Amino acid sequence: MTSNPYPLGLRLHGRRVVVVGGGAVATRRVPALLDAGADVLLVAPELTPALRARVDAGRLHWVPRRFVPEDLDGAWLVHVAIDDPMAAASVSAVAAERRIFCVRADDRTAATAWTPAVTRHGPVTVAVFGGGDPRRAMTVRDAIRDLLAVRLAPDGIAGRPDASTGTTGGRQAGRVALVGAGPGDPELITVKGWRLLTEADVVVADRLVPGLLLDELRPDVELVDASKIPYGPSRAQEEINQILVDRALAGAFVVRLKGGDPYVFGRGGEELLACAAAGVPVTVVPGVTSSIAAPAAAGIPVTHRGVAHEFTVVSGHLAPDAPASLVRWDALAGLHGTLVILMGLKNLAAITATLIAHGRSPQTPAAVVQEATTGTQRVLRSTLGEVAADLRAADLRPPAVVVVGDVVGALDG
Ligand SMILES: C[S@@+](CC[C@H](N)C(=O)[O-])C[C@H]1O[C@@H](n2cnc3c(N)ncnc32)[C@H](O)[C@@H]1O
Repeated sequence: MTSNPYPLGLRLHGRRVVVVGGGAVATRRVPALLDAGADVLLVAPELTPALRARVDAGRLHWVPRRFVPEDLDGAWLVHVAIDDPMAAASVSAVAAERRIFCVRADDRTAATAWTPAVTRHGPVTVAVFGGGDPRRAMTVRDAIRDLLAVRLAPDGIAGRPDASTGTTGGRQAGRVALVGAGPGDPELITVKGWRLLTEADVVVADRLVPGLLLDELRPDVELVDASKIPYGPSRAQEEINQILVDRALAGAFVVRLKGGDPYVFGRGGEELLACAAAGVPVTVVPGVTSSIAAPAAAGIPVTHRGVAHEFTVVSGHLAPDAPASLVRWDALAGLHGTLVILMGLKNLAAITATLIAHGRSPQTPAAVVQEATTGTQRVLRSTLGEVAADLRAADLRPPAVVVVGDVVGALDG
């Protein structure tokens, strides 16, 4: 007779867990044990390359031989991850003798412990047992994961005691998160970025963040449109810094949502420094940057075997001869690899002329990708010598990324 399992959360930090077996099952099980801080001893004559890499990195101990009963000395838990039923049964018998719970990959009915299907959502872990049917457990787990990602987070996860005041009752109050929203497609925000967004009391958003992300905010979230701050660029940045600091010091959880990645021409560093100076804790959540995603969305890999071994991301917002420019365009002209130019449309004629004047061939393939990853994406393919004129003729506009290099045609059939 099978009775229901009794669910427990094992606190394994610093505690010995023995994994017997070094194949695919062990490879899947070990990361969660390490994540829980367990002191993992792996007993197996051979390991997969992934496990070997963890051993080499000093993350776990490995004894390269078959199991002996003494391996369980001091263990709190054992995972049997071998498909030899006789050997598995003998490990499990030693574990039972010593009252150590034993998970068995080969025969769950003979095991004294089961591993659930798990989804993790920030501080919350959901573990599902499927009544002996792992597929059922995974199906239920997937449904819960989707629900947590899309809907339940604002009220269910942040632990809001009083939703009407919009005050976060969870750990995030009085903090700022600098979150990269990705290049345009709302699905290209990271899972962590999305979760923090659903927990925010205040969202300070840039012009380039995907509108659909904002559309899904709760009605009580204060949305500050940073692109509407009516000053010049440097004063506007000071205002934004002040808004972040003021709202956080007032107890709010503030998400500063920025297009692409916060640290790629995103002024995220300035915002972090301003918060740090005011004693406000900051979390940085990297984003998918348009400098890589826009070429990718147009079918252009920024590197390609045998074609480009480097890519350089550069801002074109200042003309090459502008005294304030920090870019060595003459040096960039001497590179063979891929050049990705952001904010470069206005100065493109001067930029391409400078690159050609310093030796880059005018025949070098070039492309412009406008509004990448959105429904209005446009792609222009040209050459370094022609791209500025072609751009004007095609009437392409910002936001757009310019890609220069042989990678532009690398995937063409
Ligand atoms: C101020 S920078 C911010 C870059 C951003 N932090 C990132 O990592 O993508 C703005 C420039 O990024 C580029 N950009 C951002 N989103 C884009 C998109 N969806 N398509 C093409 N270019 C984009 C354009 O060159 C635009 O002028």
